[in-house]
Amino acid sequence: MTEVFNISFRNEIMQEVNRILLQYPPDKKKSAVLPVLHLAQKEFDGWLSIETMKYVASLLDLKPIEVYEVATFYSMFNIEPVGKILIEVCHTGPCMICGSDKIISYIEKKLDVKVGQTTADNMFTLKTVECLGACGYAPMFQIGEQYYENLTEEKVDLILDALKSEKLKEIKH
Ligand code: FES
Repeated sequence: MTEVFNISFRNEIMQEVNRILLQYPPDKKKSAVLPVLHLAQKEFDGWLSIETMKYVASLLDLKPIEVYEVATFYSMFNIEPVGKILIEVCHTGPCMICGSDKIISYIEKKLDVKVGQTTADNMFTLKTVECLGACGYAPMFQIGEQYYENLTEEKVDLILDALKSEKLKEIKH
């Protein structure tokens, strides 16, 4: 029996999925799981619900558990809802030596959340991740596709305040 989903990709995203699938032999659709999960996460509010993972599985002829295994293996996928702005602070060795712990504590205090939590206004989620390959510019965090490096408390204030007001403007328009 074909499962019915409450979600589906918009046409333009589905075209992108089909373009990705063309890169693989028809019986190797599973190879497209990472790019399709990225599309799904972007499309469905920045996280992968169980239904989203089942939907992706159905598109790629996979079992839902196979998609779940991939989604839970990589830190770039969120399997819980996240705020509008996801802060991913690197806390691996080089960043830690350069003060990532202090930056994390500062953000926790500033936003009144702990790592893994989302602010009450649903604006920010704070997450820690392993090395993002910018060790020479530690401490650093990633927000969306942007890296912010050589962080200080003052820089964190400027970045987060600016992003929040940008987001609020977007929401109002
Ligand atoms: S240790 Fe933080 S970017 Fe490499």
